[in-house]
Amino acid sequence: MCGIVAYAGPNQAFDFLIKGLQRLEYRGYDSAGIALLNGDLNIYKQKGKVQDLLDETSGKNIEGTTGIGHTRWATHGEPNKVNAHPHLSQSGDIAVIHNGIIENYATIKEALVKRGHTFLSDTDTEVLIHLIEDIKQHEDVDLFEAVRLALNEVIGAYAIVIISKDDPGTIIGARKGSPLVIGIGKDKKEYFMASDATPIVEYTRDVIYLDDNEIAHIKDSELTIKTIDNVEKTPYIQKLEVTLEAIEKGGYDHFMLKEIYEQPKSIYDSMRGRFNQTDLTFAMRSLREYESKIKNLNRIIIVGCGTSWHAGLVGEYLIEEFARLPVEVEYASEFRYRDPVITEDDLVIAISQSGETADTLAALEMAKEKGATIYGICNVVGSSIPRMTDAGAYTHAGPEIGVASTKAFTAQVTVLTLIALGIADIRGKISKDRLREIFAELEVLPTKVQEVLDTCSEKVIEIAKRYKDVDHCLYLGRGINFPVALEGALKLKEISYIHAEGYPAAEMKHGPIALIDENMPVVVVAPKRGYYEKVLSNIQEVKARKGNIISIVTHGDEKVAGLSDYFVEIPDTEDCLVPILATIPMQLLSYHMAVMRGCNVDQPRNLAKSVTVE
Ligand code: G6P
Repeated sequence: MCGIVAYAGPNQAFDFLIKGLQRLEYRGYDSAGIALLNGDLNIYKQKGKVQDLLDETSGKNIEGTTGIGHTRWATHGEPNKVNAHPHLSQSGDIAVIHNGIIENYATIKEALVKRGHTFLSDTDTEVLIHLIEDIKQHEDVDLFEAVRLALNEVIGAYAIVIISKDDPGTIIGARKGSPLVIGIGKDKKEYFMASDATPIVEYTRDVIYLDDNEIAHIKDSELTIKTIDNVEKTPYIQKLEVTLEAIEKGGYDHFMLKEIYEQPKSIYDSMRGRFNQTDLTFAMRSLREYESKIKNLNRIIIVGCGTSWHAGLVGEYLIEEFARLPVEVEYASEFRYRDPVITEDDLVIAISQSGETADTLAALEMAKEKGATIYGICNVVGSSIPRMTDAGAYTHAGPEIGVASTKAFTAQVTVLTLIALGIADIRGKISKDRLREIFAELEVLPTKVQEVLDTCSEKVIEIAKRYKDVDHCLYLGRGINFPVALEGALKLKEISYIHAEGYPAAEMKHGPIALIDENMPVVVVAPKRGYYEKVLSNIQEVKARKGNIISIVTHGDEKVAGLSDYFVEIPDTEDCLVPILATIPMQLLSYHMAVMRGCNVDQPRNLAKSVTVE
């Protein structure tokens, strides 16, 4: 949700800022802007994408060795040029970029208006920079101190970076709730800041992840970090592991397609070294360290948003089946505002690709306060959730840039499978023979995923051509494949803008069946496992109403395939692993339908990948 970049050093800032914004565009693409210091403070902004900003700067003065840049996902104020960041102080001498929300901006604005401030935009961000300048002038303090004092008055979430005409070579960055990474360049003479590490990795591998309530001050090539209470902190420098290739398209038309095709590897990476097929043991430190806690667990609560919530629903089936522990799955946004009953014997698992989703973070904080053990399943290394949890497991899917989540989902489900089995093993609920069978299937899972990708693509394109112009689509699944139907429907609606709904197959009779006619495609997950015969009956019900069936069936299946208008085959596997294989044709179907409809699949309208506001 909004991407920010900043540079101070000996080189020109412009190229880093633009390239960085393009890398962060997944976080929002309503407008983009940059500010450059070169004696003057030059600001360029444009509604729309970073490319529109680039066109806007063409032929203009883009000199400057200190600069900031922003790509916006609108919260306060419509997405237009005036509301685009950077925003300026009353004098026009100080500029800020901001990711987050200043909740008490209206009160602050009212006070500032009384003191003679005038505002150009509708944003909360402009209020913040006016406040900073107001404090600087009235308290007669330097810029850093003014920022610190202002942040003490602010309620809300932010990652901000500030530059000032009077302080060339200086950037001040601060965070609370929204991420901010600092890159330390050559000879500690140049510094980068960004919402995540992707803009930085090309320049340096040495980074510092700022913590909440910390302010970084780069001045004359010196970095100091203080808390908003003015306590100096020793910077903890980490090495980046992400590679440049991982964040580029590598010959694919879209990041989403690349990420779909990366799944044999990402699934392999998500389980690599985590179980041992020979002695049937687990090598997950997070489980080992909490063994006694796991033995005495009362229940597990899984929280997440969007696709991660769907992974959580699959996790519920897995953990209940294998570990025989009650599991509840909650939307983080609902959970945080209830007053849920949580005890010290509960384990709260947060699932999040980005590790930054504001609602998921807040839900975890609440669970922690109530005494639960908190566990994170995240993809982005060093993000906020892994840094606040008691324990956790990274999904190791590699950077996911396409806004619609694909490889992160299948990696989350893979990790949840291992967690479910690991907990079952610790609690003595699964036999070694059963573990052996499932481990053997896990071993060949990446190969089977590759097989799905190799065999279904042409068929899926044919189906996409046939149905690309529909207005509605229904997705059905039963048991552990019900969340797969939800995820299939979400994928289609978010990137193709076709209205789609996922339902448990049997629930169709309680409403959606009224929608079915010869124009309605119904995608059914119907593997020859689990509730096969029951799903078959549901398919008959759709056919009786002239609905079109697109089924995902086990290789060699004839019954469902025979009833279907189109079918896609997946290899047979354990029930618990079907969701992973069945998801892939659905991802491809959404992708191809969206591309055929001319949609921007990597950056669907109104969405953002990292939702750092509630
Ligand atoms: C946004 C993204 C989704 C994602 C959800 C949760 O809506 O567009 O793809 O599933 O946020 O994000 P998280 O990073 O917490 O998994």
